[in-house]
Amino acid sequence: MSIREVVTVGDPVLRRRAREITRDELASPEVQQLIDDLIDTMRAAGGAGIAANQIGDLRRVAVIEVQDNPRYPYKPPIPLTVLVNPTIEPVDAELVAINEGCLSVPDLRGELERHVSIRVQRLDRDGREHDEIRRGLTAGTFQHEVDHLDGILFLDRADPRTFTTWEQFERFHRAAFVERISAFVERVGS
Ligand code: NI
Repeated sequence: MSIREVVTVGDPVLRRRAREITRDELASPEVQQLIDDLIDTMRAAGGAGIAANQIGDLRRVAVIEVQDNPRYPYKPPIPLTVLVNPTIEPVDAELVAINEGCLSVPDLRGELERHVSIRVQRLDRDGREHDEIRRGLTAGTFQHEVDHLDGILFLDRADPRTFTTWEQFERFHRAAFVERISAFVERVGS
């Protein structure tokens, strides 16, 4: 088990595109260790996901997991998912405004539009291919992590006028957001 330091906004590694890895690389002890480190670091930091850039590595790997997350209690659960060389495409034009935060952007949240339904193609840590549809807030989480692998932060997509600290989100914005997003989750599922 190895918890790695999470790099923060301003570190150029967050602005670089992570490169695809080969199946041989994926099977290597080094990349399997990277995946374990991502899982440990995500869990220790309480994140819903983390991408390799965020621990200073530019291989195209990210992990996602949501289980009763106190940072995002309204998110439906997502079992531990390893994304290797993921690609995403929208299924249709529907968008939803989501209030997001990021382990690499301490104490800031903001609102941005995400696709409601996406097709995700990826390998898992054993090299198996997955081709799946993800919807709702779960689709948003996948888009956030794949953005990291493309050097994009939620800041780039958010309306700066919506930026809040976590404290001010709790005070002024959380109730309305949770009410709206809970109705959305009810409608689209995840
Ligand atoms: Ni992030």
